[in-house]
Amino acid sequence: MENSKNFKKKLQESRDYAEQVIRSYLPKEEGFAARLAEAINYSMTAGGKRLRPILMYETYRMFGGEGRQIEPFMAAMEMIHTHSLIHDDLPAIDNDEYRRGRKTTHAVYGEALGILSGDALLNYAYETALCAFSLTDQTENVQRALQILARKSGIFGMLGGQSVDVMNDGKELSPKLLDYIYVHKTSALLEGAMMAGAALAGAGRSELGVIEAAARSIGLAFQIRDDILDVTSTTEELGKPVHSDEKNHKVTYVTLRGLDGACREVDRLTAEATEALLTLPVRNEFLEEILLWMASRKN
Ligand code: IPE
Ligand code: IPE
Ligand code: MG
Ligand code: MG
Ligand code: MG
Repeated sequence: MENSKNFKKKLQESRDYAEQVIRSYLPKEEGFAARLAEAINYSMTAGGKRLRPILMYETYRMFGGEGRQIEPFMAAMEMIHTHSLIHDDLPAIDNDEYRRGRKTTHAVYGEALGILSGDALLNYAYETALCAFSLTDQTENVQRALQILARKSGIFGMLGGQSVDVMNDGKELSPKLLDYIYVHKTSALLEGAMMAGAALAGAGRSELGVIEAAARSIGLAFQIRDDILDVTSTTEELGKPVHSDEKNHKVTYVTLRGLDGACREVDRLTAEATEALLTLPVRNEFLEEILLWMASRKN
């Protein structure tokens, strides 16, 4: 009981820190393009869980990272993720109207600004991450982190996964293809977050490989938990519509394996990720606790 209270408090503190960092890098709403900045800030301040920046920071700490160069990367990570959510909700993709407890960006600002604010946010993410160069002399680490972020967000990462996901709406899917989709649309950004944190702290190639494998399992577990909540939760609790997958005729882990099978898979993948992390010469127990909490998260 005491332990879980302490954990909740620590998680809240991490979230507050991530929140403060993210807000410090948001664009000013001024000039002729003020409405674009407003649409960006609307989605960025709607209150997501901030899990990717938190995982990035905790991985950075695990490898001994201390300087503030992590901060622009934390903000950039959340910008890339939020861009993926704005676009995921568009009429051409999942056609959803709610996100993070309020109307989604295209529902408030119109489809054109939904598209443009997503694009602008993705670009602004890299403008923001580049600020890290002026915060440290370890420019090689910044370069490696930038490469990781770019690769995991793009055609070989999240966007590749989103494209295969949307092209297969209403189709039968093999478990292999479903894994491809999840590993790319969801794991890739978690891999990017944790690997960029590790790279910024100076982790070596083999350590990055361990982080990548662990984050892949964490991402799969995260997406399967998302599928479960889409079926079992409520719009109030999730802050986004439930039954979105059914509406879009999606094959998910829940439709393939059933609710119990999906829950077992989340636990198995979480244990796999934790075991992978335990092979490293460094340890962050709070990070391990976050993974456990993510496996049974309610939103
Ligand atoms: C939602 O991610 C998209 C998925 C990969 C399932 P989150 O559940 O982390 O969304 P926010 O950031 O808390 O809104
Ligand atoms: C999308 O998966 C993952 C992204 C890259 C945005 P979902 O379509 O299941 O995410 P939600 O349920 O809308 O958050
Ligand atoms: Mg989707
Ligand atoms: Mg969606
Ligand atoms: Mg979903």
